Formats: sequence, C-alpha cells, structure tokens
Amino acid sequence: MGDMQKILSPFFEGSGLKRGLPATAYTGQDFWEVECRTVFHRNWVCVGFAHELKESGDAVPVTIANKPLLIVRNTKSEIRAFHNICRHRCLTLVDEPKNVGKLIRCPYHAWAYDLDGQLRAAPHFGGPNQHNHEDFDKKANSLIPVRTHVWNDWIFVNIDGKAEPFEDYSATLQARLDGMEWDKIDCVATLDFGEVACNWKFIMENFIEPYHVQFVHSTTTDQPLEDHYTIVDGNCMGSAVDLEEEIGTSGSLGVSSRYLALYPNFILGRYFPDQLGVYLNIPNGPGTMLQKRAIYTTAGQKLDGHDVEGLKKLWWDVHKEDHEMTERLQLGRASSISEAGGVLSPAWEDSVRAFQDLVARDVTTENT
Ligand code: FES
Ligand SMILES: [Fe+2]
Repeated sequence: MGDMQKILSPFFEGSGLKRGLPATAYTGQDFWEVECRTVFHRNWVCVGFAHELKESGDAVPVTIANKPLLIVRNTKSEIRAFHNICRHRCLTLVDEPKNVGKLIRCPYHAWAYDLDGQLRAAPHFGGPNQHNHEDFDKKANSLIPVRTHVWNDWIFVNIDGKAEPFEDYSATLQARLDGMEWDKIDCVATLDFGEVACNWKFIMENFIEPYHVQFVHSTTTDQPLEDHYTIVDGNCMGSAVDLEEEIGTSGSLGVSSRYLALYPNFILGRYFPDQLGVYLNIPNGPGTMLQKRAIYTTAGQKLDGHDVEGLKKLWWDVHKEDHEMTERLQLGRASSISEAGGVLSPAWEDSVRAFQDLVARDVTTENT
C-alpha cells in the first residue's frame, strides 16, 4: 500500500456516514508536496485575472505548486505563461507585477527574452562584445512555456500539458452558466485579502457547502438553508439556492445564487439577476494561501461609486466571516482528535466529499 493510500485509509474506510480528509492532508508538508506534483500539475489551475494584464508587456509572477510562473501579455494581446526562470543560471526573472516593455530582461546578466519567450540577447556570452558562441543555440534557451487557457477574465494553466482541453475539462461547470452573456461581463472591483492562514482545501470546501451559510453569515446573507441544494457534477461541485423573489435587505445577500467550483481551485459565484464573483485562490504551502476576489456585473449595467463601495463592503465582510472559520478549521487540525477527519453531513456536504474524492484520486495516483 502506498504512503498516500495509508494516510487516507480512514477516508476510504467504512460504510455509513462519510468522513472528511484526515488532518495531515491539511497540515503535512509531504501531503502538500504530493498535491503540488499531482493536483496542481495535472489539472487546469486558475492563476490570475486577465484584467490585471491590460497592456502589452504587463507581466505578473505567480507561484503555483512550488513553481514560479510568469504570466505576460504579448504584442498580439495574447496572454502567455512561462516558467519564470532565466535559462542562463535559473534566476527567477520577474519578482513583482510590472510592465516589462518589449523584453523580459534578467537582472543578473541581462539576458533578454521577447514577450513570446524567445531569447533575443545574451550579452557578451562568448567574451567581450561576443554576443554569440558557436556552441550556443539561442532558440534552445528560450523561456519554457506553460499550457494556458483564458476563459473570460480567468487565466488557467495546466503545468504538465496533459489535461483534456479546457472546454471539456470545464464542460459541467459551463453547462450551469447557461444564458450568461459573457461579452457583457465587466469587472467593477477586486478585493485583495492577502494571506489566509489555512490550507487551500478549507477555502474550497467552505465555498461548496451551503450548511454554514445561515449560521456564519446570519447578518450578511438572507438565504434559508432549506432552499439550498448541493451540486456534484464531474469537475464541478458546489451549491445553489433558488428563491422566489429577492428577500435581501440593502447590504445583505438574499438572491438566487449558484456557488460553483471547478476542481481544483477555481470558484465562481453567480448572484441573480446580474452579479458574478470569482475568487483567485493561490495555495502556497500546507497552511497558507493567498486570495483575491473580483466582482463583476453581468448585464452591462453601470454602477456608481457608492454602489461599488457597497458591494466591496458586503463581500469583504462575507469573506472575513468565512476566513475566521477556515482558519479555525486549520487550527483544529493540530489536535489528534482531528486525525481521522470530521464527519460529513450526507445532505449538505456530499459536494465537499466529491471534491475530496478528486484530491484523493490525484494524490494516490502519482506514479500511474
Ligand atoms: S541568470 Fe539570467 S542572465 Fe544570468
Ligand atoms: Fe461562507
């Protein structure tokens, strides 16, 4: 039996009620590293918002699965991703979001790559004013590209290059967004929460179960539990609430909603009639992650500054309520009580279990 199989045996065991993942899946360095090599390598992982790269030359570094990547908008206005690694001595090339102009220049010995990753200059590589060398093949020392797909405002990468095409991978999610007029989507604000001190899976699991909403968000939302249902459909899982009419008062959320996740780290909330929110979740260690949320209007409407501030405040408060819970879930994993995982509600947390099943599938099949 492999190590991962052994660690997960309480998760796979037994009949009756299902258990969640064991504590080490949220705290263990080894588990995290296996996730990096499997979950975040094999699948389509969301790494950025296209609206953060407006101009040609805009470059945003992001570390995913322990791998420094660089997202760039090229001269044809396409978004490209590369390993953020200079081919000379393997320095990370870009360390903060910026516009690099026409060339990505390494700060160490000034090797320069164009926005499609081609190595254009390796000054004095062969000696004083010798910018070439007979054994040196510039083409073979270009940046290493990473498979990329941009879906609306959301940039996905598939590091191992072997996942099915994004359209197929995300088909069950996209089928639930029928009727969306994608060309009318407009990002009106982005919230940057910075670090959240929990494992990335807690943020995902929290989003895809409706069970906590009435307790944790009692002042910010108005969505009765009995109106919710869970969604489990391939790579898409989540929950939804269908309300007859808007029951929210000003400043709270009481509208029909879809809370949809695309395995592993993409989260989209659709709030009828005309709002969308997408979270960027970047795990960066077993007990820590970064989170942003972009807020969109979906019907081409224009909001004034007051409306936008109101939305930002609402979502900031909702997220802080969630973060408090997910950080406490993390703290709870320090105790031996949580070694075998918690127990999942068959009514409200089957979607959580479906997400965990995909994680378990990936980490137990590293060498297959
Ligand atoms: S390490 Fe980049 S140019 Fe030397
Ligand atoms: Fe929540």
